[in-house]
Formats: sequence, C-alpha cells, structure tokens
Amino acid sequence: MSGSAHEALTWTSKPAGPLSGQIRIPGDKSVSHRAMMLGAIAEGITHVSGFLEGEDTRATAAVMQTLGAHMETPAPGQRIVHGVGLHGLRGVEQPLDCGNAGTGMRLIAGLLAGQAFDSTLVGDASLSKRPMRRITDPLAAMGAQIETAPDGTPPLRIHGRRKLKGVEYTLPVASAQVKSALLLAGLYAEGQTQVIEPHPTRDYTERMLAAFAADIDFSPGRARVRGGVPLRATDIEVPADFSSAAFFLVAASIVPGSHLMLPAVGLNPRRTGLLEALRLMGANIEVLHEREAAGERIGDIRVRYAPLHGAVIPPALVPDMIDEFPALFVAAAAAEGTTVVSGAAELRVKESDRLAGMAIGLRALGVRVEESDDGASIHGGRIAGGRVDSLGDHRLAMSFAAAGLVATGPVRIGDCANVATSFPGFTELANGCGFALEAA
Ligand code: S3P
Repeated sequence: MSGSAHEALTWTSKPAGPLSGQIRIPGDKSVSHRAMMLGAIAEGITHVSGFLEGEDTRATAAVMQTLGAHMETPAPGQRIVHGVGLHGLRGVEQPLDCGNAGTGMRLIAGLLAGQAFDSTLVGDASLSKRPMRRITDPLAAMGAQIETAPDGTPPLRIHGRRKLKGVEYTLPVASAQVKSALLLAGLYAEGQTQVIEPHPTRDYTERMLAAFAADIDFSPGRARVRGGVPLRATDIEVPADFSSAAFFLVAASIVPGSHLMLPAVGLNPRRTGLLEALRLMGANIEVLHEREAAGERIGDIRVRYAPLHGAVIPPALVPDMIDEFPALFVAAAAAEGTTVVSGAAELRVKESDRLAGMAIGLRALGVRVEESDDGASIHGGRIAGGRVDSLGDHRLAMSFAAAGLVATGPVRIGDCANVATSFPGFTELANGCGFALEAA
C-alpha cells in the first residue's frame, strides 16, 4: 500500500476559477467501512450502494473477504455482501492489511478481539505510526489480548479465544473510532458494553448496528450494546462524504465568482462543524432540500464565493469537524485577518500531524502561522505560490490544491497519491468545475 510509487505523485495547482457546476461527491468513508464490517458478520445478504471505491474502504472489504465473507461487485459503488453470521468468520495465517485506514484498523480490531482465532493487523507507513493503545487498553479491560509494537503502534496481534465481558468505559478523548471498536467488541461480549464520550462523535456505528437489528440504544455522547445478539442483513445507501465535499466548500468560498452545487451530501450533525466554522468566517453556503435517506440526514449544498474574514473557531466544534481542519486552514489563509484554532490536539495523530503539516505548508506559501500544542493562529490575506509537502496525507494534498486556486503563482504539492484512499477521481472532478490541477 505504501509503496514508493505512492510517494512519487506530485501535483501542480495553478491559480484558476471561478468554479462552477455540479459536483457529485463520492460515498462516505465512515459509512462504507462500517457497511463492509457489519454486512460480513450479519446473517443474510446486505446490498450496499454508494460504496466509496477508495483504497481505505476497499482494504476493509478485502480484509472481511479474507476472513470468509464473500462479496460481489455488480457495478462500481455497489457491493453485495454475503454475511457469515456473528461467529462465521475464519482466521487466516497471513497479516490483514488495513492500508492507510485508522478507522479500518481500529474498528476491525474491535471486531476481531472476540473471535475464536488469532489475527494480525498491519498498515502502511502512516498507519504504522498511529497510536493504538487508545483501543487496546479498553479492549483489554473487556478481556481482550492484543499486542502492539513497544510504542503502542501497529502491527496489532490479536489473540483469539478470549472470553469478553461488557464494560462501562468513559473515553478520555472524543473518538468515534475508539467508541466503535468497543461497541463492535461488545457484540461478542457477555452482558452490556456502554461507552460514554466527553463530547458526542459521529454515530454511524450505532445507527448501522440498529439497522442490522442489534440490541443497541444510544443518544448523543452515550451508547450501549448487548452482546451475543445476531445481526440481520439489511440494505445500506451510503451518502456522499461531507469530508470530501469540504474541499469544494472551501475552494468555492475563496475563489471570486464561484458557484457550486453539491447534491445529496451526508449532513450528520456530528460531521458538519465546518459549515458553522465557514459561516462564522462569512461564507455563503446554503443547504437545500434537506431530507432523510436510509436513516441519514442528507441535503444539497450550494456554495458561492464570499469574502472571508478570520474567526475564533469554538473548541466545542472541533469533534464535529475533526477531518476538516486542513481545508479550514486554507480558508483561513485566504481570509482577511486571523483565525484561531484550539482544542484540536487530536490533529497531531491523524494520517499525518495535520497541525504541523498545514503550518509548514502554509508558511512555504508565505502565510504567517503560529502553531500551539493544540491548535494554530493563521494570519490570512495572501497566499503565494511555492512548494509544499502533503506528507502522504490525502486531506493535506486536496487542501493545498484548493490553496493553489487563489495563490499568486503555482503551488507544487508533493506526495499526493494517497488521495486515492478517500477520494478517487478528485483531480477530474476538480478540473471539471474549474481547478487547474495536474500531475507534474
Ligand atoms: C472516523 C472517526 C474520526 C475521523 C476518521 C473517521 C470514523 O476519527 O477522523 O477520519 O469513521 O469513525 P476519531 O474518531 O479517532 O477522531
């Protein structure tokens, strides 16, 4: 997954625009991962439409297939998952490769903690640096036995044949991944597993477990599941990924004269903090035809250029826009005045250290950025051309591509191949609406 071919891709994003047209954003990454996992351990056949054909979610699908769940791909974006039931997965000798995906590895670890076989989870260079004790500690409290590397990073060696018992666990940091790992382990535990969050995070695992007929109840900041209850297959319609839409929301907001429509984007309130943050900065974004589709709130988003100004981003918004900070940094760099981000230390343990990566990149483009332990102050107004490094982080690459639109010269962005993990076809979609983005 992390081969050197990946590191070789460089983009050049040139000043361009205005942006216009309609953009069909690919399927939600979080929902796509979960659909593969739950479909695989359900009883019966699950039809998934809108599946994200990204490397991360395909890696999860491949892991579940390796463990014995047969899947068909009748067309791109569709999967027919033949569930094997709660106890139907079969162990394999070889390591299971989660690629670049923290979500894949952490959730699958929860799922495998209560199996009757051993397994090993590995990932690419970025994933191999990410902290895993945040899941292995609470899973150990449930009775799981999982070894990490000495510094708490992958590979994960998961010992099977452990009897799990339900626990009540209060998360030290707001993390949907940790919550979800525990709830999935809870499916195999004796009794009830309850997770309390310091701030509510995305609730896709809870919603999808309910759709698969698990014994679950949940409300913002709390979820409880009872173990030993079989899951019943269902059909999943994956909404368009708000986090992928984010690059276009920012790009159209900063390029004069822009007007974009993004139809049927997922609007789960635990994902849409960026809308609020951009509106605080003066953005012109409307949500039209808000509706429910397959139990999720979706809507069409219209974004038009507006002169942005700096703002203090309320720390309470951070969990609701945890993946959108690279894009927000670019909006802040283009805005007049200073934008202040705090309470966002989690950004340091994503696919890259996103606080450092964005600060270094924006400085290379002439933007003054002061970094703190848990945030940054970005003094916006003018973005120059220059060379930046995406550090192999898909969201940095796409954010810098948006910056190039309003820079005073071309922005060369190194190490962009990992965009394929979450947003296949980004370049074509971006150029179709007015970007000038090329591999070079
Ligand atoms: C995700 C949760 C978030 C997010 C990630 C996807 C999920 O991570 O950053 O991209 O699907 O549960 P944390 O919950 O660890 O913050």
